[in-house]
Amino acid sequence: MSARDDHSWGAPPKLPASHFVSGTVYTDPDICAEEVRELFGKLWRFACHESELPKAFDYRVFDHAGHSLFCIRGADNRIRTFVNVCSHRGAKLLSQPRGNAETITCFYHRWTYDAEGGCTGIPRPAGYRGTGPSRQAMGLREVRTEIKAGLVFINLDDDSASLETFLDGALDSFEEALSGVPLEVFHYNRAELNANWKAWHETNMDMYHENMHVVLRKTQLNAMPMEDRTMALFSNGHGASGELKAEYAGYAGFAGRGDDVPPLPGLKSTDFRFVDLFPSTTILLRGTAVRIDTATPLGPDKTLLEMRGLGVKGEPMEHRRTRIKHHNQYWGPFGRNVPEDTFAAEACAASFSKGAARYQIIARDENLTGQDDAILRAFYAEWGRRLNRQPSAPELDWVDDG
Ligand code: FES
Ligand SMILES: [Fe+2]
Repeated sequence: MSARDDHSWGAPPKLPASHFVSGTVYTDPDICAEEVRELFGKLWRFACHESELPKAFDYRVFDHAGHSLFCIRGADNRIRTFVNVCSHRGAKLLSQPRGNAETITCFYHRWTYDAEGGCTGIPRPAGYRGTGPSRQAMGLREVRTEIKAGLVFINLDDDSASLETFLDGALDSFEEALSGVPLEVFHYNRAELNANWKAWHETNMDMYHENMHVVLRKTQLNAMPMEDRTMALFSNGHGASGELKAEYAGYAGFAGRGDDVPPLPGLKSTDFRFVDLFPSTTILLRGTAVRIDTATPLGPDKTLLEMRGLGVKGEPMEHRRTRIKHHNQYWGPFGRNVPEDTFAAEACAASFSKGAARYQIIARDENLTGQDDAILRAFYAEWGRRLNRQPSAPELDWVDDG
């Protein structure tokens, strides 16, 4: 047992390559650009919940893989997604984060579009007679959109496999809770984090750090034997917890949680379950409340975090108030959980950014129980495969030793 000198500190840990990650993955601008292109630009990603577009022509603008996109509900009730760019000279079309527009009018030369992406108007069209283009050829760029359990997923890659294939069943055990009753978003919060997007997502994949959260030490760590906990891994880098439990009775402010509002379908108020969808969406169910996270890279050391809380559509006001309280106890900006996770992600990022930290260890192996790092390892294996880089030594090609 001894401290290490710089040579030893900077040497790769004596572990299987799958059990540690190089700090370069958090800091290298080229790797970040590859991630945007090869992961975010080619994979399905959660965009919003269908309740955020309740009426025809409601839209929501968001950033994805360096593009501005928008989802919009058509007159036919279908939600479609488009690149937020005018066909004429490329101006950004919608500048508000959300709204309602039966006709989308570009501010620059006032070309117009409908909610199905068709170009409906070109001022003074006579000037194009004889040269074109025609309105028929000037529709918006549509982005693949599929909905599962009320969750709207989009994919910029027209050639990728279906959402169902991509998910590989990772959402199956969440479907009853998410669609057994209609849900709606009651909380939307966005923040910029001074950390790499993976450092945030790790806080959602890492079970070991529940020791950090006082609320989890008090309510969750002893609620069931570690060996009875399970995890599940899916193709394409997704991972999920099995059924976890909490025991709120003895914790001030949390006692009675769930006696005052019905839990979500298929759950008890003390149940906890989460799924991490590759690359950066997490859905957490905590008995009576839902949280959905997405992390979007803005650069190697900057991440846009978006968080949503959901309640039951049409529920009585006192139930809604209680459900919001349950959500915020853990997950609101002043909750017991999220602020601590942001602190952890930024603390690690600060160490890696200047090279003070060189590697991170993801070597806990508890056979998919307890606080196993298996979901982290599955994430980095998928990351390595898709970028053709070794997470433990990203300058080297990927070798699948799993
Ligand atoms: S750029 Fe939109 S109408 Fe010209
Ligand atoms: Fe956490």
